[in-house]
Amino acid sequence: MISTDTNARTCLAIVLAAGEGTRMNSSRTKVLHEVGGRSMLAHVLASLGAAGTDAVSVVVGPGREDVAEAARQASPSAEIFVQGERLGTAHAVLAARAALVRGYDDVLVLFADTPLVTPATLVALRGALAHGASLAALGFEPDDPAGYGRLLIEGGRLVAIREHKDASEAERRTGLCNAGLMALSGREALRLLDAIGNANVQKEFYLTDAVEAARAAGLATVHVLAGKHEVMGVNDRVQLAAAEAIFQSRMREAAMRGGATLVAPETVFFSHDTRLGRDVLVEPHVVFLPGCVVEDGAIIHAFTHLEGAIVRAGATAGPYARLRPKADLGPKSKVGNFVEIKAAQIGAGAKISHLSYIGDASVGADANIGAGTITCNYDGFNKARTEIGEGAFVGSNSSLVAPVRIGAGAYVGSGSVITRDVAPDGLALSRATQVEKAGWAARFRTMQAKRPRQR
Ligand code: UD1
Ligand code: CA
Repeated sequence: MISTDTNARTCLAIVLAAGEGTRMNSSRTKVLHEVGGRSMLAHVLASLGAAGTDAVSVVVGPGREDVAEAARQASPSAEIFVQGERLGTAHAVLAARAALVRGYDDVLVLFADTPLVTPATLVALRGALAHGASLAALGFEPDDPAGYGRLLIEGGRLVAIREHKDASEAERRTGLCNAGLMALSGREALRLLDAIGNANVQKEFYLTDAVEAARAAGLATVHVLAGKHEVMGVNDRVQLAAAEAIFQSRMREAAMRGGATLVAPETVFFSHDTRLGRDVLVEPHVVFLPGCVVEDGAIIHAFTHLEGAIVRAGATAGPYARLRPKADLGPKSKVGNFVEIKAAQIGAGAKISHLSYIGDASVGADANIGAGTITCNYDGFNKARTEIGEGAFVGSNSSLVAPVRIGAGAYVGSGSVITRDVAPDGLALSRATQVEKAGWAARFRTMQAKRPRQR
């Protein structure tokens, strides 16, 4: 009896990540290149996690501890297999033989260089198995089919997949391409894969030949269609940029549907994990690196750059603010133009409006930090903290030499260099006393006027 419920069927996913990436022209392996601040491999593993599988195997190239580590980070239970030689996609799947022999209802094969695949598509591929197919290939119609394998259909049935390099002129005219991802019946997978040879232009063991192997065994082979933007493969940096563009447009749309206003969406760049609340306003030219959260009603003004930062409800940042990791802007606080914040908690309603660096610090609620204030947090060896109490007022152009505390409600006179703690409600000044010489400027001008000009 075939269960048509994918949830009732067990599934092994095998992610092929033994790409050398020669066409990336990079010292970094292809699948670790990033889209939206996350490696392509981690994108695929995240989709798998959302789709739900019983086991995940990742096939890496020999000595690629970096890829194995990235896989473990993204999916701690993933089993890592090494493909000793890069002899083709079918050969790569067989590197996970030890997982395959455990026996699963469904085997899903994914490519780590196809990062935008959605959980729904993975479920649809498995659904085809649940409905009786032994092999389901994922098809799509890209704008430019060159380079992709072609799905050959006869009488509505998938009969073969032909690699671009092996295809005839007539076959190349087919717009229906192979996305590379495939679902195989776990019962048949091993014998189909073992039947695949390497008699082709590239002398590789092609996973795509599993279709003909299945047909020869009298098994049903089908294809499932995916959107052209979802399953594009990334073989070079031009395709990487295309994938990034698609990913960004997905993120922008999700942000807007979630209740954020993006004034010029095409100029706002998100990371995979950026979270925006409702009624957040994001002005043009804003960049979110990983780890950012913007709560309800906050405003991110133009040209602001954020990484690992939290902007709490009703706070504002920018224009031209830089929020670095562990910047935490309290509710209704304000960080203005040319202000850099790093590892600092800014209290509710506090204001740092212009031209400041606040790092390794805490700023109490409603404190006011004047223009040009610098927390001197680094002596060349160690970092130290600056703590500014609630309601404190730091005059413009002050240097706060950490470790140092400014008590609640205290004042710091403009232009001070503060090296010792300031008690609550006190006034600290550390600048030369002003001297004034009455009439000096007028006398100076008169004297200069009498002298001959020198060049
Ligand atoms: C593959 C498909 C092609 C499809 C295209 C979609 C095959 C034979 N061809 O071609 O039909 O249209 O993807 O993007 O399957 N890999 C290994 N070990 C290997 C070879 C590849 O792990 O020995 C991995 C790569 O890291 C990559 C994936 O498998 O993630 C696909 O390999 P790649 O060389 O990029 O295949 P394409 O030529 O793009
Ligand atoms: Ca590819």
